[in-house]
Formats: sequence, structure tokens, C-alpha cells
Amino acid sequence: MQITYYGQSCFGITINGKHLVFDPFITANELAKDIKLEEIPADYILLSHGHQDHVADAEALAQRTGAKIISNYEIVSWYGKKGLDGHPMNHGGSWQFDFGKVKYVNAVHSSVLPDGTYGGNPGGFVVESTEGTFYFAGDTALTWDMKLIPMTCQALDFAILPLGDNFTMGYQDAVIASDFIACNNIIGCHYDTFGYIEIDHELARKAFSDQGKELSLLKIGESISI
Ligand code: NI
Ligand code: MN
Repeated sequence: MQITYYGQSCFGITINGKHLVFDPFITANELAKDIKLEEIPADYILLSHGHQDHVADAEALAQRTGAKIISNYEIVSWYGKKGLDGHPMNHGGSWQFDFGKVKYVNAVHSSVLPDGTYGGNPGGFVVESTEGTFYFAGDTALTWDMKLIPMTCQALDFAILPLGDNFTMGYQDAVIASDFIACNNIIGCHYDTFGYIEIDHELARKAFSDQGKELSLLKIGESISI
């Protein structure tokens, strides 16, 4: 599995030759100004919730690539009215796609689309595939429901968790989340993009390493293989 970080909560993940893009927010992100949206491949666009810092570039990306949008029913319906292809889900449901199985799981947050349309309830995704299994938490507080993930899904190879505090859990709560999901290999997201969510990278890494866990804070544009 190849993972590329595009800033905020946006990741490109290639699984079994299919390109998944999570929460595209690039052209409006000053920190991602060197990333070219028009060069990013996409077969599927997974949207955790309707907020601007997660969906800003979804329409342009879907229009150029023809990618299918995977999200909750309300968000997929909103893009459907724009003529974009989608696969609607809701919490607790799974679907087998050609790259692997996706489960839409709970998040504690809010969700409204850029024009004020109700964006359903926010979620995260667990993706199980022959190349590995991971959890993309979206925007969420630390929540007891995370304990359901290791009870109901394959063991996680890694998880992408928000760390920036204020709008989501901070890194201290994310350490506890990593216990709840039984995963010691964490990739951070949702930090540094705005003043409210700036973090001290060394303190965040130390909070994880003190518990025998690893936190990766990827540079924007950096790719890793897992
Ligand atoms: Ni949000
Ligand atoms: Mn957000």
C-alpha cells in the first residue's frame, strides 16, 4: 500500500492498483501550495463529512477523474445532484469494492456541506484489503465507539488519526484512541493548517513513543509504503 500525504486530512492511498483519495482539501490549503490537484489520480474519493476542509476539492477531482465518491447518504446525494457518481453508506455498514472492503464507522463531530445543506452524520472509514487494513478516523473526538473497531474488523496495520485539538481530539487523546483501536502505528492528520490546530511535533511524537507507539507526521507531498 502506498500512502501520500496532501495536507490537513487529505491522503492518497493506492491499494491493489486503485487510487483512493481521502478528504481532498488542497487548493485552499496554503501549506499544500506545492501539490498539484490536477496531477492526483483518483478512482475513489472517500469523504468523512461535509466540512470545507475535507471536501473543498472533491468536485473538481471527481469531475476530472470520474472517481466514485464514497461517503454517507446525504453527502453522496448532494454530489449526485451535481451529476457525480457515488456510493452511499451509513454508520456500521460495509461494502466490498474492487480494492477491498470499506466500513463506515462512527465519529463524534458535526457535518454540514459548504452551501449549508445538512451533511448527514460524520464518520470514519475502516478499509480491509489483501494489502492491509487501516482506519481513517476523519474528524472526531476520542470516543468509546473506537473500541468496536478491533472487535469487528481485521487487525489494523496503521491508523490515520486527527491530532490538532480544538476541533477534534488532541494528540494526548489520540494516544488513548490508539489503545482503543489496538494499533500502535499512527499517522497524524488535522494539525498545523490553521492557528487553532497548531501542534508541537516533538511533544506529539513523545506522547506516543512514551507508550511504545509510533507517530508519523508526514511532510506534505511525502509518500511511504506500508
Ligand atoms: Ni470537520
Ligand atoms: Mn476538519
